[in-house]
This record gives sequence, structure tokens and C-alpha cells, in this order.
Amino acid sequence: MRHRLLGELSLDKVLVSPSILASDFSRLGEDVKRVEDAGCDMLHLDIMDGHFVPNLTFGPPLVASIRKNSALLFDTHLMLTNPLDYVKPFAEAGADSITFHVESENDPLEVIEAIRAQGCSVGISVKPGTSAKALEQYIGLVDMVLVMTVEPGFGGQSFMADMIPKVAEVFAMFREKNPEGFIEVDGGIDARTAPEIIRAGAGVLVAGTAVFRAKEGAAEAIRTLHSYSGLLPAR
Ligand code: DX5
Ligand code: ZN
Repeated sequence: MRHRLLGELSLDKVLVSPSILASDFSRLGEDVKRVEDAGCDMLHLDIMDGHFVPNLTFGPPLVASIRKNSALLFDTHLMLTNPLDYVKPFAEAGADSITFHVESENDPLEVIEAIRAQGCSVGISVKPGTSAKALEQYIGLVDMVLVMTVEPGFGGQSFMADMIPKVAEVFAMFREKNPEGFIEVDGGIDARTAPEIIRAGAGVLVAGTAVFRAKEGAAEAIRTLHSYSGLLPAR
């Protein structure tokens, strides 16, 4: 399978990745189409194993079924104890970018290699309690760092503003060692919480509740987030 890659997207614009965790699963196909038509840049898929995080979501068959009707880049967030076992099944189901947690039980270098072997973009993520230092040795090997701005496990939680300095640290690391790297933030991102973290260098915004359940409609919510592109720091 040919995969879309993060490198196709712009580093100089705010990109919005709606998390389907906040969609209506009984009409998932329509909901994905709705955010795609509303102008989102990718689609965020939260995969939870009930072990790495205290919640369960969905597996490769669901990803394969939405793949049939969507051309979006599938931004797949593996909250799994053993990501290595699942890289291939998710890639074959249609995941394009695959992000795993540095806190998982596998050797990050092996996971990075396994994701590359599938022809996918590579992301590495840190939970709120893990410092940016834990990423230092991998920064030149990945396409994206995902800084969690809530404890992973559930949608609809409050944004942790104390993660903003961590984003700034990752931005400095990328600038020095890998200027093409994307920084994604995930958890409690909306029109009110986004500006400060974008100023720190986060260009990819996961937004579940703020897009799928936007009172003003998904298109308007995405337009507002896109309008913050000018806040991104120069690389
Ligand atoms: C949390 C997930 C998030 C979550 C975001 O573990 O990784 O992607 O769905 O949801 P909101 O945007 O509602 O905080
Ligand atoms: Zn996520």
C-alpha cells in the first residue's frame, strides 16, 4: 500500500487533525466526510489497548473501513504497551503516519525501524510526566513529536498549559537536529488554548471535541485554528 507522508504537508501552517474519538461512532463514515469537507488536514485515530491507558478504542478493521472512503492522511496515535506488534496491521489497514509512545515497553529504535519498513511517517510521543530529554536521541530519526497536553486515555479533558515549555524545548531540539520535524499537540486544544502552544512551535493540532462538537460547525472551528498560522515561530 502507498502511504501519504507528513512531508507532503506544510511546516509553516497550522494543520488540524480531528480525533474521531469525539465523533458519533454510529455514523462514523458521515462524520469523517464532514470534517474532511470542512477542510481538516489529516485525521487523528486514537488506538488504546486498555493497558497502556485505562481505555479501549478500536483496531485495524475499523481503520480499513474508513480508509475506503477517505483520502485524508491517517494520523495514527498508538497508546499501546507493545506498539511493535501492531505497526504492520495498522499500516496495512491504511494508517499513514504512525506515532508510538516512548514510554511503551518496546525499544524505540526498533519501533521506528518497523514503521519506516512499512513506508509510513514516524511519530514519537511523550505523556505529560515525561520530559523532552527522553526524546533527544530519537529527534533526528522521526518526522513528528507528539506532546500530550492531557493524560492519554480520554477525549474531552482540560488542556495542561504547563506543557507549553516542553513544546518549546522540542522545537529547539528540532531546529538544531532536524529542521523538517513536525510538532503535534493533543488534548484539550481549542480556539482558546491553541495560540500560546502554537507560539511555542506546535504546528499540528489534534482537536476532538473542538472540531467534531463545535457549536459553530466544524468548518468554522477549523478556519479559526488555521487563522493562527502566523503565530508559528520562524524555523
Ligand atoms: C487522548 C487522545 C486525544 C483525544 C483528544 O488520549 O489521545 O487524541 O481524543 O480529544 P480532545 O480534543 O477532546 O481533548
Ligand atoms: Zn491522540
